[in-house]
Amino acid sequence: MKDFQHIVFFTGAGLSVESGIPTYRRQGGVWENYNYREYACQEAFESDPEKVWDFHDKRRALIAGCEPNPAHRIIAEVQRRHPRTTIITQNIDGLHQRAGARDVIELHGSIWRLRCPENGVVEDNFEVPLGQRRCGRDSWWRPDIVWFGDSLREDTINLALEALQQCDLFLCIGTSAVVYPAARMPQTAVDNGAETIEINPEETPISALFQRCMRSSASPALAELFPGYD
Ligand code: APR
Repeated sequence: MKDFQHIVFFTGAGLSVESGIPTYRRQGGVWENYNYREYACQEAFESDPEKVWDFHDKRRALIAGCEPNPAHRIIAEVQRRHPRTTIITQNIDGLHQRAGARDVIELHGSIWRLRCPENGVVEDNFEVPLGQRRCGRDSWWRPDIVWFGDSLREDTINLALEALQQCDLFLCIGTSAVVYPAARMPQTAVDNGAETIEINPEETPISALFQRCMRSSASPALAELFPGYD
């Protein structure tokens, strides 16, 4: 692997498949079994917070029982050896951090962080299941996740764009690239003239953007690109 100045890893649900966490779309995907309008949007939360929490508690239990896979570890090791490495993820599972990665830009938030709508308090919470779902007399803790219909945080988008505008190597791993604004971000790395690699067993709507497409699972592809990093 040539010596790059600034590496960006841009990851989606496919990165955590080897850890046992299903993706959202395609067969066996989360949204194949659950209607996101009932489980992952503000309206659903306001009309039935218990139901929404039951769903997220199940997801927290599943994720807590999973371990980072070699792909997560290789990415963390690349960042350790090449400090100007930025990790931008759509994943809410926290597996990058559990593999040792730092300063992960979480575009869609985290299932391990809670927000109280009443007083704006945001805190980390790893209880499985969550002990106290209420954060006030009339308020429920809300998972600090970007649900359908929510906007991404401005500062998070700006952090991501800054890295995408500076990187000289861009790796896009395990995303179907159908959810915006995240799916628009790879174009910024391309416009910046970075060397670009897509890792995904399947073609995606943005595959044509990439100089190289590796039709493989995340870990073997990263092990090939970064031998000796796991
Ligand atoms: N290694 C790499 N990629 C894989 C693997 C694997 N082992 N297995 C599947 N994939 C690919 C699939 O081919 C697919 O293109 O991962 C992608 C997963 O796509 P989605 O399920 O759509 O997940 P993602 O793109 O991360 O979803 C984006 O949508 O539901 C919302 O907010 C949620 O962050 C999520 C966003």
